[in-house]
Amino acid sequence: MVRPTASAMASAESGRRAAGSGRLDKYSVLLPTYNERENLPLIVWLLVKSFSESAINYEIIIIDDGSPDGTREVAEQLEKIYGSDRILLRPREKKLGLGTAYIHGIKHATGNYIIIMDADLSHHPKFIPEFIRKQKEGNFDIVSGTRYKGNGGVYGWDLKRKLISRGANFITQILLRPGASDLTGSFRLYRKEVLQKIIESCVSKGYVFQMEVIVRARQLGCTVGEVPISFVDRVYGESKLGGNEIVSFLKGLLTLFATT
Ligand code: GDD
Ligand code: MN
Repeated sequence: MVRPTASAMASAESGRRAAGSGRLDKYSVLLPTYNERENLPLIVWLLVKSFSESAINYEIIIIDDGSPDGTREVAEQLEKIYGSDRILLRPREKKLGLGTAYIHGIKHATGNYIIIMDADLSHHPKFIPEFIRKQKEGNFDIVSGTRYKGNGGVYGWDLKRKLISRGANFITQILLRPGASDLTGSFRLYRKEVLQKIIESCVSKGYVFQMEVIVRARQLGCTVGEVPISFVDRVYGESKLGGNEIVSFLKGLLTLFATT
């Protein structure tokens, strides 16, 4: 858990007051997709089920980056099935990176909370009610899913992939000491105005975004709660994390180390 290092942001304070009893809360899920045709209907169905069962107000924003596999057409169908107040397709023309996909998505969000997660079923929506409970419990600015604490874990990754993730976390912990246990994970809940504020200072475009957000959040004095999650490797499609993303992660990390 990250303790506030400075006074909390004024905007976060006003958000806390507005949250009140929680009855007016709305959760905007940002789902970035690139070639997720098989996964998208399943993840949307699971999300709708989870939110409906817990009577949570929500919207799901799909940010498709011109996937050649027809993901966008699938999203258009889902918009029709569930209604355009629940499913909002906000696509971009081409693959512009994971970090900027969130920045694009948040512009269209109407909720006071933002949930980011992967669309490939590696993040199960069943954890979302736990995130929400955790957020209310500690009045946190951010609740981060963690694979590296408590019952959290990773299933289905080979040794190489595990080493990349552990390595990225380890180096970042040493260089930047952000104090959260899963820095590269991307299953999180944010107060919307907090994420907006953090994004203003973010420079990364790809996978390094998750790490940068947590590091900048700490500098701003945001509070971070953690919920252990299990990450299950995808069944359909393939990961987009290639050598280029790893190089830009390291570059981003060194830039943050030098500038913060
Ligand atoms: N719109 C858009 N644009 N979506 C993208 C892009 C992009 O350029 N690149 C990836 N995505 C989407 C994928 O379609 C998926 O929904 C999600 O982002 C995660 O991508 P994956 O390619 O499945 O990532 P991963 O499983 O290898 O990586 C996981 O672990 C990393 C390290 O912990 C994810 O949880 C990452 O977010 C995490 O950083
Ligand atoms: Mn994945």
